[in-house]
Amino acid sequence: MTRHRRKIIIDTDPGQDDAFALLLALASPEDLEVLGICAVAGNVPLDWTTRNTRIICELAGKPNTKVFAGCAAPLKRKLVTAEHVHGKTGLDGPVMVEPTMDLQDQHAVDFLIETLRREASGSVTLCPLGPLTNIATAFVQAPDIIGRVQEIVLMGGAYFEVGNITPAAEFNIYVDPEAAEIVFKSGVPLVVMPLDVTHKVLTTRARVEAFRALGSQVGRVAAEWADFFERFDMAKYGSEGAPLHDPCVIAYLLQPDLFTGRHINVEIETQSELTLGMTVADWWGVTNRPANALFMGSVNADGFFDLLTERLGRLS
Ligand code: BDR
Ligand code: CA
Repeated sequence: MTRHRRKIIIDTDPGQDDAFALLLALASPEDLEVLGICAVAGNVPLDWTTRNTRIICELAGKPNTKVFAGCAAPLKRKLVTAEHVHGKTGLDGPVMVEPTMDLQDQHAVDFLIETLRREASGSVTLCPLGPLTNIATAFVQAPDIIGRVQEIVLMGGAYFEVGNITPAAEFNIYVDPEAAEIVFKSGVPLVVMPLDVTHKVLTTRARVEAFRALGSQVGRVAAEWADFFERFDMAKYGSEGAPLHDPCVIAYLLQPDLFTGRHINVEIETQSELTLGMTVADWWGVTNRPANALFMGSVNADGFFDLLTERLGRLS
């Protein structure tokens, strides 16, 4: 039987946890065809995320991956970044060599539009791991592509965990709430990995040592990223390690039964200064608003790390 290979476009703002997501995807060519990777401003400004995306592709041994630079600022707001979590470069931790692979000339938004128009309708899944600026811009510029997207599987938002960048909002949604609103109202089937899930996949010591024990460059770098990244969350939450937010998106594509959630209505707060970027998730079904997202709530964390470690082990 031929295995169905899913076509994906990853939209990202690396970020150490984004790096894990990209490595997981690039290590899984039998399951995922990565048509391209779009960089967006988020954790750090666009020049850094564009550089970092290429560093990660080279680390994965995939320098022919198409990488595109996208939007440098949110639709209507000033960029908010997260160097306090990820360090100045966004990939602080191990020393990385500067990338030499090509950056595509085309703008990420044009790539999204062109690819969705070219590929068969319903055959391309979008995987946003950062603010939704590139995706929303493409939807506004070319509304004809919206109905052609198979699914959007994204990391963003929270219900039970509420917020991480403000008391009410998760970082990716907070940075560009207007973009998030466009995506959540688009009608494209959405799968959402909120903090409620990602805060359950923690880089415990044993899990980080399992990366290191792979004995490869990828294993060592992954362990050192986790070592760097975890200091922030351990100090903040008193947790055993850092949440690996973004690889939840790719893990879902590879092994959806690791996750469970509910089909619910999710709306984005764009007006209130106090709760800007909040994902108002009707988890308890207290409104009649129609469901627009499969909003995840739990994850098999050991299964997630088994998958991640096994796939990282496929990279040299
Ligand atoms: C999200 O924000 C970023 O800091 C991470 O890369 C992740 O995408 C978590 O709130
Ligand atoms: Ca991210």
